[in-house]
Amino acid sequence: MGVYCITGTNRGLGLEFVRQLAQSGGHTILAAVRSLSSDLGDLNQVASPTTHVLECDTGSIKSIRAFATQAAQVLGPDKPIDFLINNAGINLGSSQNSLDLDPDHLTAMVNVNVVGPAKMVEFLLGIGLLSSRVRVLNMTSGLGSMQCSSETNPKCAGYSISKASLNMLTIHQSKDLREKLLGAVVIAMDPGWVKTRLGGRGAILETHESISNMLDVLDGLGDQDNGKFYQRLGQQVPW
Ligand SMILES: NC(=O)c1ccc[n+]([C@@H]2O[C@H](COP(=O)([O-])OP(=O)(O)OC[C@H]3O[C@@H](n4cnc5c(N)ncnc54)[C@H](OP(=O)(O)O)[C@@H]3O)[C@@H](O)[C@H]2O)c1
Repeated sequence: MGVYCITGTNRGLGLEFVRQLAQSGGHTILAAVRSLSSDLGDLNQVASPTTHVLECDTGSIKSIRAFATQAAQVLGPDKPIDFLINNAGINLGSSQNSLDLDPDHLTAMVNVNVVGPAKMVEFLLGIGLLSSRVRVLNMTSGLGSMQCSSETNPKCAGYSISKASLNMLTIHQSKDLREKLLGAVVIAMDPGWVKTRLGGRGAILETHESISNMLDVLDGLGDQDNGKFYQRLGQQVPW
């Protein structure tokens, strides 16, 4: 049984992570949501007795810091986080290309999609809440792959730029975290094109399929996987 910490859990992929983990029973789940005042009906419905719903706006340093403190209070001294899933993400101005990027959109995406995951790891580590064998999953996108984008018609310019930055953050975290926690493994993960608000109606995968695939990959991670970029079935994606 593990301790899981997941961001952005009120809907979409984050909600499905909580649903599947809660169903398998016994796990302690920190289910982070941007705002406790938002509609949490679906999350409350899937939560287990060992699910703790906490506020964490991953676009706010102050909120991430407060979340780390609260998480430490909830878990206590002997229950560090085994799995940190940096799932929360946004895609703004998806029709923009590199010639008409809205700077406010780009800044907001870098803030939530890159700075958020960086500070989550930093603050949870700082407060002593990451297990020595922690697995960190940074939820990226195939659109963040330089190689894939250069071989196709690149889409969602600002979003893909933010996810490429998240990929580079993953490389840095995989080295830096190892210096503090010998058994840590940090990966970037592409969930596939999934039917969520972000993925849109044309998406091909159901959330349950994508999440069960990713949980299998997460479960099987070993030392050799540190700093790699995988898709949901465990195949490596080129950076
Ligand atoms: N669906 C796909 O096809 C697909 C493909 C590739 C990658 N991804 C990635 O998968 C992750 C989850 O996406 P999704 O498809 O589940 O999208 P979604 O349905 O739009 O859900 C996004 C989640 O992120 C949360 N969030 C947004 N901004 C936040 C903030 N500042 N602080 C905390 N939480 C915040 C949202 O909370 P609120 O409701 O409060 O805004 C929501 O829970 C994202 O990182 C996305 O980039 C998705």
